[in-house]
Amino acid sequence: MGAPTHCGSRPIHYSGEPALTDALSMQPVAIVRSAYKEKFGIPRQPGLANSIISTIELLPEFSSAEAVRGLETCSHIWLVFVFSECVDKGWSPLVRPPRLGGNKKLGVFATRSPFRPNPIGLSPVKLEQVRIEGKQVYLDVRGADLLDGTPILDIKPYLPYSDVIADAEFAVADRIELLDLPVHFSEQAKIHCAHYQRTHGEALDLQISELLRCDPRPAYKKNDSDRIYGVKLHNLDVRWKITDEGIYVETIETLREGEGNAS
Ligand SMILES: C[S@@+](CC[C@H](N)C(=O)[O-])C[C@H]1O[C@@H](n2cnc3c(N)ncnc32)[C@H](O)[C@@H]1O
Repeated sequence: MGAPTHCGSRPIHYSGEPALTDALSMQPVAIVRSAYKEKFGIPRQPGLANSIISTIELLPEFSSAEAVRGLETCSHIWLVFVFSECVDKGWSPLVRPPRLGGNKKLGVFATRSPFRPNPIGLSPVKLEQVRIEGKQVYLDVRGADLLDGTPILDIKPYLPYSDVIADAEFAVADRIELLDLPVHFSEQAKIHCAHYQRTHGEALDLQISELLRCDPRPAYKKNDSDRIYGVKLHNLDVRWKITDEGIYVETIETLREGEGNAS
């Protein structure tokens, strides 16, 4: 058994290559600023709520025009990040992916579960722009699946000639699953969306529709069509329910100061 290696605060033991027994310690290069203030409701993969823009804020040590030179020529980038809310939650070799209805188990390495031996995630996202304000570099990206405050370990260009694998297959997740239901907004919700459009220039109704069509409900609660759920999006509390006939946005309220912070 080799010497313990540390990733985060947890020791990892290797039995193999001597070079791998050196301590692994990593430091985030950036932090995500996103509309997602809690894990519930975040799309389960990137590219599903493309009307929502998140910002990758480079940390001072890495925030220079040199470090991102050439990145503006990429349409998409890979984000390697830490599932920061799961770091101390442990992992199990078998997990129940929501897409399998919550009752079938797959090996953790056959899933994208956040609960992994090393809680590292990987998301390709559309790069809208590289923004440089003084020394501060921001990357505006579209369709990310990341909680506000997520630490980014690395940023890499997406390479179309190599990263697109046209004949790739994965039998248990072979297509996007979105609810094909109309989204209805109450009068109160419509007024709030119109106000948000005027004050923020963003189509909140489109953002909410995209999120809810991903069906954030836990697999085992999908038959309970009377249940009202809430998601925190931006600084808003959005209340909704899903029935066999449609998706109903009941109310949108502004959260009080501090309530919209990612926990
Ligand atoms: C299933 S994971 C997939 C992430 C990534 N695309 C991947 O495949 O590695 C996406 C989910 O991770 C959760 N998530 C996002 N940011 C997180 C964070 N910082 N800590 C813990 N969980 C997070 C959200 O609930 C989101 O729906």
